[in-house]
Amino acid sequence: MTTHPLVFVAGHRGLIGSAVLRTLAAHGRMRALVRERSELDLADPWATRRFFLAHRPEYVVLAAGRSGGILENLRHPADLLHDNLAIQTSVLRAAQEGGVRRLVFYASSCMYPRDADQPMDESALLTGRPEPSSLPYACAKLAGVQACLAWNRQIGEPRFLPLIPNSVYGPGDDFDADSAHVLAALIRRFSEAAATGAARVTLWGSGAPQREFVYADDVAEATLALLEGEIAGLELPLNIASGEEITIRELAQKIATLAGYHGEIQWDRGKPDGAPRKLLDGRRLAQWGWTARVTLADGLRRTLDWYRAQPTPKLPGTDTDA
Ligand SMILES: NC(=O)c1ccc[n+]([C@@H]2O[C@H](COP(=O)([O-])OP(=O)(O)OC[C@H]3O[C@@H](n4cnc5c(N)ncnc54)[C@H](OP(=O)(O)O)[C@@H]3O)[C@@H](O)[C@H]2O)c1
Repeated sequence: MTTHPLVFVAGHRGLIGSAVLRTLAAHGRMRALVRERSELDLADPWATRRFFLAHRPEYVVLAAGRSGGILENLRHPADLLHDNLAIQTSVLRAAQEGGVRRLVFYASSCMYPRDADQPMDESALLTGRPEPSSLPYACAKLAGVQACLAWNRQIGEPRFLPLIPNSVYGPGDDFDADSAHVLAALIRRFSEAAATGAARVTLWGSGAPQREFVYADDVAEATLALLEGEIAGLELPLNIASGEEITIRELAQKIATLAGYHGEIQWDRGKPDGAPRKLLDGRRLAQWGWTARVTLADGLRRTLDWYRAQPTPKLPGTDTDA
């Protein structure tokens, strides 16, 4: 009887980690190893090293980290820098010592220069300054990409694969009013506004920025394909794009309609917009043989259904009309 290889999914309760667990269960080709944060703090290098040496996972999905929308980046820049640096440094080192065969690390489109040509291809990294509001987070992620590439050079083979998904969304997203990314924040705002019958919802910025969203299960599919596939000669890092671009204004309108909100949408132009456009060039991964499958329309419906099915009522909102 063959035993399926062991894959450690770090951050299995998060948006991407939980999608990886779902996808692993559906494929049935690997056994998942998981730990709660209370059992294993991945920012602790000694505990992480002991864990890797004791369990010797063959594969690792490094989906543990800290991220968030503009508000989180403005309020907790030092935590974002510190936590991501600490986790990735500790896990990459332990994975190298534990003889891990292949590891996926998730970097971020925030790393690209704010004024990079669009769509942004991987060669644009480190050619200019990232958007200032998320610079500390971007620096941690740039360090993570460089750490993967440096370990690969030192080991002599590509074991650590840095992936750059554009904004990810899906079931299990963070809907917290303070830390949520834009899409989840809009789902929450419009769901609450629809439920309370609010006449007006005020959103940050102008609504003009253009964004690209990737469904979490698509990121998970790309991850498993890269863990298992032939990667000789594959250039790293790799963007994970959906190719579907939308303005924040159009996204807000779509989500408002899906959530059943019929009131006014106001834009607070005194608040920051973030980068004007963040579209990733997905050709490198497409040439290797992977493209996203879930459309934004389908992904939004699935995410909203998941949000509505959550047992904890998120109502009533207090800031819907702020
Ligand atoms: N979401 C996006 O749009 C996006 C886009 C590009 C890249 N990424 C990156 O992809 C990774 C995963 O993102 P995500 O959105 O899935 O994040 P998430 O939903 O916030 O989940 C993060 C996970 O990391 C765990 N974690 C945090 N600190 C930990 C620690 N010290 N020890 C052990 N576990 C720890 C959390 O545990 P608890 O459940 O206990 O909190 C949680 O399960 C992050 O590195 C993020 O920067 C995300």
